[in-house]
Amino acid sequence: MSRDEVTIPIDMGPVEIAREERKASAPVQREVVFDLRDLGVRYGTTTAVSGVNFEIYQNLITAMIGPSGCGKSTVIRCLNRMNDLVPTAKIDGEVHYHGQDIYGDGVDPVEVRRRIGMVFQRANPFPKSIYDNVAWGPRVLGMKKNLDERVEKALRGAALWDEVKDRLKKSGLSLSGGQQQRLCIARAIAIEPEVLLLDEPASALDPIATAAIEDLMHDLKQEYTIVIVTHNMQQAARVADRTAFFSLEVGQGKRTGVLVEYDSTDKLFTNPTDKRTEDYVTGRFG
Ligand SMILES: Nc1ncnc2c1ncn2[C@@H]1O[C@H](COP(=O)(O)OP(=O)(O)O)[C@@H](O)[C@H]1O
Ligand SMILES: [Mg+2]
Repeated sequence: MSRDEVTIPIDMGPVEIAREERKASAPVQREVVFDLRDLGVRYGTTTAVSGVNFEIYQNLITAMIGPSGCGKSTVIRCLNRMNDLVPTAKIDGEVHYHGQDIYGDGVDPVEVRRRIGMVFQRANPFPKSIYDNVAWGPRVLGMKKNLDERVEKALRGAALWDEVKDRLKKSGLSLSGGQQQRLCIARAIAIEPEVLLLDEPASALDPIATAAIEDLMHDLKQEYTIVIVTHNMQQAARVADRTAFFSLEVGQGKRTGVLVEYDSTDKLFTNPTDKRTEDYVTGRFG
């Protein structure tokens, strides 16, 4: 599962793939990073989502959209076994990561989370210095060599270095909301994961900070595979190469999240196949 084993088709760098992807839904040779097979999640006796099948491709930005409560956060948390931390959560189906089921026997969830980093809706820096926030993951993992360079690289990667390089010892909590969220992204990439999961990373930010995060995502996708949950359709349309639309299915008095449609972002927004997608993206629902 190392990054080195991953191949990108010759003559088709990640950026070109992405551009191609935005233009048309024509099949393009891509590396599958995640393959979700009949994924379902229950919390106690309540089924939050069921029957989710789709593939997530390397060096693309994949968005998950849909009304509140349709299971977007639940699904994204399955991609790095974050739902393990919810005691009532029970996962059905399989989540293959480069061909290996991360819920299979003998898989270490800590190792999964090392390769697949996550950033949450509310920026949550530790009450530590900017430097120590970024150095935290590498220290925990024993990556102590060249720590200064590693911290700088992560802060540069998160487009925050120039703003904080003269105050690395100041508290992470002294930064603005947008800077704090970029600090959390720096903290996530400091351990060099392959994938970045972002659950509504900009929903608490003002438009300028949101634009900074969106620009940053475009830069990061050259190195990372990015999955983003957003309730903001315009944001999905701006940043994502592919979009998955989830909705709630009502039956026997219960509401269960389902994946309705998954396609290139352009296709999903301009020419959706499913009536439910059309109603949602044209604003007739939700
Ligand atoms: N930790 C939890 N415990 C119990 N139910 C939960 C938990 N997290 C989410 N749910 C329920 O699962 C469903 C999907 O929630 P969620 O994945 O947060 O949706 P979304 O992110 O699309 O708004 C909702 O009905 C929600 O109440
Ligand atoms: Mg959510």
